Amino acid sequence: MNVLEKIFTTNQLTEVFTPNTVAKLTYVKRQTIDSDLEKYLQIPGNQIIIYGHSGGGKTTLLRNKLSEIGQNYIKTHCESTTTFNDLLMQAFDELNIFYIQERSTNSQYSISTELKAEYLGISSKVTSNYTEMQGEKSIRIIPPQLTPQKLAQFLGEINCLWIIEDFHKVAEHEKKRIADVIKIFIDAANDYKKVKIVCIGAVGTARELIELDNNLNNRIVELFVPLLTDDEIDSIVVKGFDLLNVSITDDLKGKIVYYSNNLASITHQICYDLCFHSRIQKSKFLSKRLRNNTFKDAVNSYVRKNSDTFTKIYDTIICQRYGWHVLKTFEHLEKEHLSFDEIKTKIPNQKRPSDEELLNYLEQLGSPEYKEIVRYDRSSMKYSISSPFFKAFLKMKLALEKAEKNETMARKKKKMNNKYSIADSTYTLVTSNVIFDEAFFIQYNDILETMLNEETKVHRTLRISKM
Ligand SMILES: Nc1ncnc2c1ncn2[C@@H]1O[C@H](COP(=O)(O)OP(=O)(O)OP(=O)(O)O)[C@@H](O)[C@H]1O
Ligand SMILES: [Mg+2]
Repeated sequence: MNVLEKIFTTNQLTEVFTPNTVAKLTYVKRQTIDSDLEKYLQIPGNQIIIYGHSGGGKTTLLRNKLSEIGQNYIKTHCESTTTFNDLLMQAFDELNIFYIQERSTNSQYSISTELKAEYLGISSKVTSNYTEMQGEKSIRIIPPQLTPQKLAQFLGEINCLWIIEDFHKVAEHEKKRIADVIKIFIDAANDYKKVKIVCIGAVGTARELIELDNNLNNRIVELFVPLLTDDEIDSIVVKGFDLLNVSITDDLKGKIVYYSNNLASITHQICYDLCFHSRIQKSKFLSKRLRNNTFKDAVNSYVRKNSDTFTKIYDTIICQRYGWHVLKTFEHLEKEHLSFDEIKTKIPNQKRPSDEELLNYLEQLGSPEYKEIVRYDRSSMKYSISSPFFKAFLKMKLALEKAEKNETMARKKKKMNNKYSIADSTYTLVTSNVIFDEAFFIQYNDILETMLNEETKVHRTLRISKM
């Protein structure tokens, strides 16, 4: 930002650092995946699966690209209980913006009168009596006219793309139905070039859809979104603070990057907290320097925020006599994957279990009881922490523990040095190691007296011997 822009632009903190929503102002483009995505979006009939770790920036990447290229889209969300019919209904409801409200969208479109009439016809059936009770729950019934083919036509007419978020969460048989619809959309591209489905899923789930149907193999591209690199995280921090006209030290920036653990959502959260605690709610007219000492508060706040989920796992693990050492090794070695021996040798001798016991324990850490926190990779025979969020939590938790330990030590030292003494201190002088109190001076006098006596004796002896 140049000086004039800085003076005349006011950015709100909530728009700059966005831990839970798509980053726009601080968006950092990742060149390779960005241009891959653009290419795949352009090819008619090409369906896309975007997958990667939660918080890795899948939604942010896609949404920024779609608005950059001016592509209309609707989005639907999956839960474990979502049925395919629910998805169809969600998608139909989303079309409301285009077919009824005609609100401004990424690109212009025109709808034929017949299709609009069809949409309105189905819409009136959906909203009227098309619900039925299933136990306690009321279920919306899909009117027979609302087929996946019809949906593809509704979308095609307005050059719209369909985003299905978290497709991996739905049950297996519903996934099969999503795969069937993808095939319908591949065909629809012959009539409508821009219509397509983009599925977003968790890391390691891309093949789940493709394996359901061999015909999909060449028509679906899988786009892996890795976690952000340290440099990319660094750029988010720089961009954000620059937008707020706030300067930070390199040391603080380094800490933010380290504790973010390559997760942009944590970067946004820490930066947000840092600003919030320093009462920065919008860009500063005059540049402000952020103090380093607010960092611990931000880390503390992140750990507290995750206390329900991660603290519970952490506390259960450290109950085991060598559990803490296992966790510490994952944090300490700065490596993603650890061998069995690397973990074993870091456990102190007196606490080290037998190989068999440790193997069982590590297996247990990969079970649902421990939220599958440790993952074992059979091909490399190495262990890793499965969630980057837990790893980030671990870094922060252990750093806070260390800080607390240091503070306790410092307190103890001060106590030993009588810093907290409430005794009359008129005659007490304390330096780092020696206490100049009454007892010290009595002893000092005794020694001095003895030395003077000795010296007098020596002088006397010398004088006698000279005579
Ligand atoms: N390239 C980026 N530049 C700046 N901020 C980013 C970037 N990518 C992601 N973020 C930030 O990180 C957070 C997480 O990103 P996003 O929601 O896109 O991840 P996701 O992979 O879709 O996660 P989930 O699987 O949980 O939906 C967002 O709040 C966003 O602000
Ligand atoms: Mg997302």
